[in-house]
Formats: sequence, C-alpha cells, structure tokens
Amino acid sequence: MFRKISTRMAFAYGAIIVLTIFIIDAVLIFSYQERQLSKNIKSQVEYGNFIADIAKEHLSDVGTLNSTLQGYTKNVEGRVLIMDKKGYVLADKYAEYFGKTLKNSVIDRAIKDKSSQAGYARQDDHHIMLVAVPIKDSRGLLGLVLLSADMDSIIKDISELKIQVISISLLACIAAVILAWKLGCKITKPLEILTSASESIRGGKLDIQVDIKENDEIGELADAFNRMSQEIYKTDISRRRFLSDVSHELNTPLTAIKTLVESLIDGDDDIYVYKEYLNDINCEIDRLSTLVKSLLTSTKLDQSEIFKENVCIYDEAQFLSRLFGPRLMQRKMILKNNCDKRLMISADVSMLRELLTNLIDNSIKYGRESGKIEISAGSIDGKKLLKIKDDGIGIPDKDLPYIFDFLYRVDKSRGRGIEGSGFGLFIVKKIAERHGWDILVKSHVEGGTEFTIMIGD
Ligand SMILES: Nc1ncnc2c1ncn2[C@@H]1O[C@H](COP(=O)(O)OP(=O)(O)O)[C@@H](O)[C@H]1O
Ligand SMILES: [Mg+2]
Repeated sequence: MFRKISTRMAFAYGAIIVLTIFIIDAVLIFSYQERQLSKNIKSQVEYGNFIADIAKEHLSDVGTLNSTLQGYTKNVEGRVLIMDKKGYVLADKYAEYFGKTLKNSVIDRAIKDKSSQAGYARQDDHHIMLVAVPIKDSRGLLGLVLLSADMDSIIKDISELKIQVISISLLACIAAVILAWKLGCKITKPLEILTSASESIRGGKLDIQVDIKENDEIGELADAFNRMSQEIYKTDISRRRFLSDVSHELNTPLTAIKTLVESLIDGDDDIYVYKEYLNDINCEIDRLSTLVKSLLTSTKLDQSEIFKENVCIYDEAQFLSRLFGPRLMQRKMILKNNCDKRLMISADVSMLRELLTNLIDNSIKYGRESGKIEISAGSIDGKKLLKIKDDGIGIPDKDLPYIFDFLYRVDKSRGRGIEGSGFGLFIVKKIAERHGWDILVKSHVEGGTEFTIMIGD
C-alpha cells in the first residue's frame, strides 16, 4: 500500500497536519470556552456583590428584603436568592424557594470560605451556572446571594464554534493530503521516467535522453543521466568501430595469406617463386603479429594499475635521447632537451616512457632529414606542460581530428612510404587519459608538428 512515495508522502504529511490541526483545535476551543465562562462568572459575581450590598441593610426585615429584591431584579434574567449563613432562603426573585433551606456544594464552599464561588449544574435538560456571593460586614458572614443563570446559549455558542472549527479543519486536512499526494506525484513522475529510460538502456536502446526540466536536484539527476547515456552511447559506437577496424585489419593479412597459400598449392612453380611467395606470407604474418601485439598493449593499458611517482621529466628526456641516438644519427637529426631540470611530475614511469617513445618515434619518422626535434617542459601559471616539436612533414588539417584513432594513418599516398601501424598515437591518448592529461596538436603541412601534453598542477 505504501510502496509509492506519493502515497507515503500523502500519509505522512496528512498524519502530521491532522495531528497539528487537532491540537490547535482543542487548544482553541478549550481556551474560548474558559474565556466565555470566566467572563460570565465575573459579571455574575459583580452583580451578586451589588445585590449583597443592598441586601445587607434589609436582612432583618424579610418583607422589605423581598420587595427590594423584586425591584432590583425584575428586568434581569435568571434566579436570585438571598439566604442566611445556614442556607435558609430569606428572599427569592420567583418566591419559589422562600422559607426553604438549600444545600449544594457551591453554597457550602461559599459559607466555609466566606468568598464568592461558582459551579455548574443540570436542571431539566438545561445547563445552569450557580454563583454564590457572600454578604459580609465587619462582624463577618451574614448570608449569601445565590444567582443561577441559564448557560444554554453559551453552550450552544461553543458547540457551534466546535462544528465550524472541525469542518474547516477537516477541509484543511483533505486539502493538505491532496497537496501532499500531488507533491509526491511531482517527485515520483521524473523518477518513473528515469526508471523506464534506464530499463530501455538495459534493453539495448542506448541513445536515450529524458526530457525533465526541473530546476532542482531531480533536474540535476536527469542531466547527469542524459550525460551518462550519451557517454554510454558514444562508448558503444567507438567499441563497435574498434571491433570492425580490428576485424578488417585482421582479415586483410589473413586473406592475403590464404590467397598466397592457395596459389602455392595449385601452382607448379619453381623454388624461387615459392620463396618469393613465402616471403610475402612472412610479411603478412609480421603485420598480423604487430596488430595482435598492439591489441595486447591496448588491453594491458586499460587494465593495468597505474603507479604514479614523482618523475624528473628532464632525466626521462635525456634517457630517451640516448636511446634514440642511433636512429637520430641515421637521419642526421638532433634532439634538444629544453626541459626544466627541476620540474617534477606525478606519473607512471613506464607509461610516460611509452608515451614519449611514441611521440619521439613519430617525430623521427615524419621529421625532416637533418631536422630538429625539441622536447620542452615547464610550468605556466602553475600548470605543467610538456611539448614535443619537430620541423617535419606536418599533418593536414582534415586528418588532425582522427590521428588519435585506432589504426588511423594519414594518407599513405604522401609518397614517402613510411612504415607504421597507426597505433602509436592511440596509445599516447590512452596513457594521457589514464593520467587525466589533455593533449593539443598544432601542425602545418611541411611546417612541422607540435604535441602539447597539459599535465595540470
Ligand atoms: N610528428 C608527426 N609529424 C607528422 N605526422 C605525424 C606525426 N605524428 C603522427 N603523425 C601522423 O599521424 C598518424 C598516426 O600516428 P601513429 O598513431 O603514431 O601511427 P604510425 O606512426 O604507426 O603511422 C601517422 O600515420 C602520421 O601520418
Ligand atoms: Mg607512430
């Protein structure tokens, strides 16, 4: 029953509001009732005191007392009795109790305490208020004035107020429960949309976006969901493309090998032709082997843990310049290490070496004969930067967005027949991503290329 947030909210808010309204109602009605009654008692006591003052003079003369009482009370509602201090009625406005002795708790208390007392009684289905006021002089208590007034109108007033307050409160409670339920629905609606969108993603529909325009935490959740689903979609697309690229790259050498082997099986050639074919097969196997190694390196990079330590970038560049020495010499190139000797960066040494190796290897391969390669590292505005720059053949603008893609190589028809797999920059990007670094490339055809790794703080 309470599985839905909207129902739970309606119930919880409803319960809180009903309880609050019930307490407020009770306090309100009780205090109104008390105020009304004490106002009445006060006015009755004042009136009793007035009668007591007059009666004091005539207590010994019952006839005058009765006629005086008649005179003063004829226009006033309610019964007025005057009695001595034993409860014996000396005068009665309606002459009914005259000569009788009355006893009740109000009279007893007033005689005992010699002070005004009030109480309530029921008579023939009527609510009666009794007020006893002492008649006193310097000698002490002389008698009592007993007033009884009909309370029905006050009781009726109070019960009418009760009905009004309770009906308004009931309406308020219903409105509160409806509002709480609507509020609950407003919250749960986007959650339902998000749940069904998540289910769609689980079912394979990845490019899903939810249309929730709330300006609160739910809106933020929807934005985060949309960003996440977009990322999943993009990852899925690149995974599919990666798979199709790999299959294609594997298929090409395999088809070539199969064709060559079939020709060898069917053919009746001499040993030289066999050797030539086997040589071609060997080249294709090398291609396959490089591809498989590249795939292994890529998965290793994805899975292996990254062990960061403080690395002196100048020392790394020196190490690699010695390592590449023979190749640089072969192409009569020079590698200048302009790194700040004191600059330390936090990186996984083996990954950093792999990254630099690929960039330097490219600069040598695609650099100008007798050209210059420059490695520089420093910090600008507290941000550390690492640059590798050459003055080689450059990269055409149209290829720049793709050079980091798996197996992407700039058009081989550039006529220089440079060997490569199109895997180096893919690895460079992966390593940078694992460190949280960004890469920028600036390049001009025949003007050189500059890779900037933005290391950050
Ligand atoms: N320093 C550079 N100068 C010119 N072209 C470059 C440079 N670095 C990379 N490229 C271009 O980007 C492509 C992708 O590079 P990479 O992934 O290392 O593959 P590979 O070196 O195996 O060709 C290269 O084929 C090349 O055309
Ligand atoms: Mg390369």
